[in-house]
Amino acid sequence: MCGIVAYVGHRDACPIVLKGLKRLEYRGYDSAGIALMNGGLNVFKRKGKVSDLEEFIADKDVHGHIGMGHTRWATHGEPNDVNAHPHYSSSKNIAIIHNGIIENYAALKQLLIEKGHTFQSETDSEVFINLIEDIKQNSGCSLAEAVRLALHEVVGAYAIVVLSKEDQNQLIAARKGSPLVVGIGEGEYFLASDATPIIEYTNDVVYVNDYELVVIKNGELEIRTKEDVVQTPYVQRLEMALESIEKGGYPHFMLKEIFEQPRSILDSMRGRMIAESNHLMMGGIREFENKFVNADRILIVACGTSWHAGLVAEYLIEDLARIPVEVEYASEFRYRNPIISERDIVVAISQSGETADTLAALELAKSKGATIFGICNVVGSSIARATDAGAYTHAGPEIGVASTKAFTAQVTVLSLIAMILGSKRGTLETTKLHQLMVELESIPAKVERALELNDQIIKIAEQYKDATNFLYLGRGYNFPVALEGALKLKEISYIHAEGYPAAEMKHGPIALIDEQMPVVVIATKDSSYEKIVSNIQEVKARKGKIIAVVTEGDTTIPSMADHVIEIPETSEHLVPLLSVIPLQLLSYHIAVMRGCNVDQPRNLAKSVTVE
Ligand code: G6P
Repeated sequence: MCGIVAYVGHRDACPIVLKGLKRLEYRGYDSAGIALMNGGLNVFKRKGKVSDLEEFIADKDVHGHIGMGHTRWATHGEPNDVNAHPHYSSSKNIAIIHNGIIENYAALKQLLIEKGHTFQSETDSEVFINLIEDIKQNSGCSLAEAVRLALHEVVGAYAIVVLSKEDQNQLIAARKGSPLVVGIGEGEYFLASDATPIIEYTNDVVYVNDYELVVIKNGELEIRTKEDVVQTPYVQRLEMALESIEKGGYPHFMLKEIFEQPRSILDSMRGRMIAESNHLMMGGIREFENKFVNADRILIVACGTSWHAGLVAEYLIEDLARIPVEVEYASEFRYRNPIISERDIVVAISQSGETADTLAALELAKSKGATIFGICNVVGSSIARATDAGAYTHAGPEIGVASTKAFTAQVTVLSLIAMILGSKRGTLETTKLHQLMVELESIPAKVERALELNDQIIKIAEQYKDATNFLYLGRGYNFPVALEGALKLKEISYIHAEGYPAAEMKHGPIALIDEQMPVVVIATKDSSYEKIVSNIQEVKARKGKIIAVVTEGDTTIPSMADHVIEIPETSEHLVPLLSVIPLQLLSYHIAVMRGCNVDQPRNLAKSVTVE
């Protein structure tokens, strides 16, 4: 959470930093602030969005060739002007922006207060900058050295940038646990939480590693470790296109990303499968093929939507490859003393590749000797770099906070993995494998057809936009889809929604059903079709309003349901890739009709780098 951007070079820093902050607003949008150096060190900050900050500075002098900015997702202290970043030190000579959490901030603050430092905010970040100032004042060392020494004192996670009034040509940054990328231009440098604020200017980037200190001084970049060992920066060339991070004519990123799915699913399987010759390949799996094929167990750790993709994988891998799979919330897994062996494969699924709990869960599994496989969307992200092997989902940047195309990309990659394992282990016979591959190849075109349901779904949304509760039911492969549909609705429309296995409904949620309750039932033609038809009857008998997602040509359910959404037929193994589409659209339209901020829902952030 929180986004940071900084610039040093020949251009005016302010517009670059502000534009960068807008690109990073998905990481938090409680407050925004900027610091600029033009002889002095001037901080401007405001509660609210980057646009509020822009209004606030409209009549101020914001020139300067070095600047840094921050968009906040509040952890310590409520979202207000004072707690917004950047934070000055007591003397106002230096200032910091910080993404992360300093866990020992309370003890450090007490010590610093005793030494005469004063604090304006309730944040841990202000403690960090005063600690740096304190070290500098007491030892007389350079600012860079003071920052380096301070890294030994703080416990927790950080990506920081520090500016000093006394050195107008220097920018200092460091990271541990929170992401930080340096962009290298012609005589200019950019720093940001991810590459999106940078790619407009340069494709050459350096991903800063944990415990590294970055000093950009007089046009030179130097990276050293916390232990003071100078590093050779590893410059990578990014392929990301600018259009991929802009709305491209859509009113919201979420809608753009929903409509991108035919392409993003194709990109996720591109180069990994040739159905014609039954050929499957995935570099990350090949490297550890023996371990995968002979694994005792696959443990999947993830959060949010990625966890739902993990549930789909459990069904897929157990069914096709006959390897036991357990899917765990990363936040629970890491604190419950789990049993992990060297013969386990732990798969961490994460769109951002930065989710703190998922990262910590995989570190725990690593320490127990398990092989760690990552499925991430963001190239070069912390999880991608911490794993033994992995597969990128290649969905392209996902900016809407509610995850859509990342989910279908994850499910695509997981389907391929299940097929590879099934074929290597001999549990998936060649004819069935071939059918599944042909079917997977046809999915992008079928998603295209599912997206044509948009107008019909707008009409359904109009009817139910004022509902206060929703129930989502599914069985088998559609159970995780029910969970995902409910999550989408609650996160962006603020309507309470529950996802449930359809049969389990009668053990509780059925008590909620009356004529006011919309019940979305995902009832495609699969092995549990007859059973879910009975579940629909149970809802109908209690006068619930049924919105049924069915397979094209279904003649049974239309006579029972209030609304029928027909999606193309596919194998039940792949049905989540299609059945989730109308649910994404339904939540999107309901949220828009309720006047909600779809791309930036309240209290949420796209990248959750706090535990
Ligand atoms: C946040 C986002 C969700 C996402 C979850 C896990 O809660 O709002 O959309 O599913 O984090 O994120 P990850 O990047 O690890 O997939």
